[in-house]
Amino acid sequence: MKQFTSVKDVQDVAALVNEALELKKAPYANKTLGQDKTLGLIFMNPSLRTRLSTQKAGMNLGMNVMVMNLDKEGWALETQDGVIMDGSTVEHIREAAAVMGQYCDIIGIRSFPKLQDREEDYSEDLLKKFIELTGVPIVSLESATRHPLQSLADLITIKEQAAAGKKPKVVLSWAPHIKPIPHCVANSFAEWMQQADVELVITNPEDYDLAEEFTQGAQVLHNQDEALKNADFVYVKNWSSYEQYGKVLTDGQGWMITNEKLALTNNAKVMHCLPVRRGLELSHEVLDGPNSLVIEQANNRLYAAQAVLKRMLEAVD
Ligand code: CP
Repeated sequence: MKQFTSVKDVQDVAALVNEALELKKAPYANKTLGQDKTLGLIFMNPSLRTRLSTQKAGMNLGMNVMVMNLDKEGWALETQDGVIMDGSTVEHIREAAAVMGQYCDIIGIRSFPKLQDREEDYSEDLLKKFIELTGVPIVSLESATRHPLQSLADLITIKEQAAAGKKPKVVLSWAPHIKPIPHCVANSFAEWMQQADVELVITNPEDYDLAEEFTQGAQVLHNQDEALKNADFVYVKNWSSYEQYGKVLTDGQGWMITNEKLALTNNAKVMHCLPVRRGLELSHEVLDGPNSLVIEQANNRLYAAQAVLKRMLEAVD
């Protein structure tokens, strides 16, 4: 595997999920695979799970791991080509990325969208430049439009928890929030679930439909109660409007998943990528109750990252 930026980079999704589950049983089975190899984790935005799980995944494989909060610790980065750098930016991505590629065998990069310009965000310019300029395998730690390590962990969790012999109904349910939130987790989840043996239903208020390139094939319902009927898994996530790009159009009253909402489901397990705003996105009672999978999901981030890094290490010289 030379890059991991979306489900399209995975030839056999079910095999990768199975490999992650094998690593969960024996996390140190490949502890010399990454010997003398360096993993660089570059963050342009905050992180708890992605940072720690990917760092630990590299360590479990015997890699040296370097982490840099480039937005705070690096030189102010210029990403536009052809500009005269007579303003506040100090270093161009052309040099910065190429230099990082000299020090690292694999690089992970997190860079959120600005949610100002849809075309700019959905062009994935920064991620593409890292792929082009570093010259080493790239793992997306969440880009402008996708969060593939999260989605792989989500699929691992569903595979572990699903009842045997039944295709689970999985509902991606929009949740309220006070701030404009990117589409990455929801886009990515929709894309990955369509490559899995599940029935995917997406429910969100009108004017919050995700981009069709991510939802194609999935049923989209604007009536949450109808969508929740017989659900085996409910994946809770907020996102801002795609159509009115980056806007918050409603306070989302009535959309938070509570025990009353869960009563409409097939005793559904509840998922969220975290961090979660308690009492706003998801009720305390559900988060603290027996149906919540959020901690298991976060645990599986480790094995998702480890499976991806293992595949990359097997492909590098
Ligand atoms: N779910 C997730 O990516 O968490 P962090 O933002 O804390 O890494």
